[in-house]
Amino acid sequence: MIYDKTSPQFAHFDEISPELLFKGLPTPCYVIDADILEKNAKILKGVADRTGARILLAQKAFSNFALYPILSRYLDGSEASGLFEARLGYEEMPGKEVHVFSAAYRGDQFDELLKYADHIVFNSPGQLAKFGPAAKAAGKSVGLRINPEHSTQKGHAIYDPCAPSSRLGTTRASWDDGMSDDLISLLDGIHFHTLCEQDSEDLAETLCAVEEKFSDVLKIVKWVNFGGGHHITRKGYNIALLEECIKRISERYGVTVYLEPGEACALNSGYLVTQVLDIVKNGAAQIAILDMSAACHAPDIIEMPYTPPLLNAGEKGEAEYDYRLAGPTCLAGDIIGDYSFSSPLKEGDMLVFGDMAIYTTCKNNTFNGMPLPPIYVLSNSSISPIALFGYEDFKRRLGNTGHMI
Ligand SMILES: Cc1ncc(COP(=O)(O)O)c(C=O)c1O
Repeated sequence: MIYDKTSPQFAHFDEISPELLFKGLPTPCYVIDADILEKNAKILKGVADRTGARILLAQKAFSNFALYPILSRYLDGSEASGLFEARLGYEEMPGKEVHVFSAAYRGDQFDELLKYADHIVFNSPGQLAKFGPAAKAAGKSVGLRINPEHSTQKGHAIYDPCAPSSRLGTTRASWDDGMSDDLISLLDGIHFHTLCEQDSEDLAETLCAVEEKFSDVLKIVKWVNFGGGHHITRKGYNIALLEECIKRISERYGVTVYLEPGEACALNSGYLVTQVLDIVKNGAAQIAILDMSAACHAPDIIEMPYTPPLLNAGEKGEAEYDYRLAGPTCLAGDIIGDYSFSSPLKEGDMLVFGDMAIYTTCKNNTFNGMPLPPIYVLSNSSISPIALFGYEDFKRRLGNTGHMI
């Protein structure tokens, strides 16, 4: 498929031309599309309004807090993976809920975490025993992550919390071994996170496994968090079934349902604008070296792995001219993917990757001394910077006490 202005990843360019809009921006740069972000947030709010569910932003996917004022108009709060994200959510979504889940909390951070988080989810009976009483005494809502041991994912074991021997969540056997009456009495809620970019059919299947294994627990808690991985804002996602699932669980057990999507909040609401630095040949292969790096600026391309959508380009062989697109670093595998174009690429051409707001700006790095790309916001057809970086940002991370040997 050739991505163009009719593709959901580039839908905004139906109204405005990216060439005109992005002309003059330094490359590489991220551009976050505030209008699409708001569209996503409205879809999530619709689900919340129709079902009574509470929906949180999973900050691990998207944490450009300059945009939080838009999201907090529609969402109930934020979800964090530890102290810093909890603090960010607390500071930048004032008055909203702050939930935190970590596979293991640190004793030297826990008191500070209690300042920011209102819902604290533990991964194991051991962590609940260690920190639960302090959380409870501080007036926090306490939860335990369970593992329903029912995988609905194929092919991405690193994103599958239900993979064999997973450390994420308490299995029924560990519950039976480790949960005393005292520990159970600390619990206000349970949490599970098992999905990744999935539809509500997989949620429905997962809920059957959760009910089969943990229905006695569902009957005694006040809330159930369905985690993230729900691709709610993707075109074609079955929202009606999601709403049925939420209503069924909340009515049957008298619980509040939470969802904490990351991707769905910022899906298709970002672009990575880059330019061609050189074209090299190796046998029949033509390779365009870009000023962006998969390894540094969109690491999920390599970790996931996946090939990101590129405006006006298709898969290899679809259009007349094939190119491999690659980054400028020393890593042989710094490859973005194989694409085809209707005309030959040349040095200086601007390329626009889509769906680049999620797991990018919060995951990037300066390997090879690659600069961090500036981050801009596109809103009402105008563009403004929210983060600029330079040599000092690179250097500070490598030594910042001033001490020299
Ligand atoms: C516990 C938890 N909640 C929420 C999320 C957000 O998932 P997604 O961005 O796929 O919606 C994740 C992602 O790994 C997660 O681990």
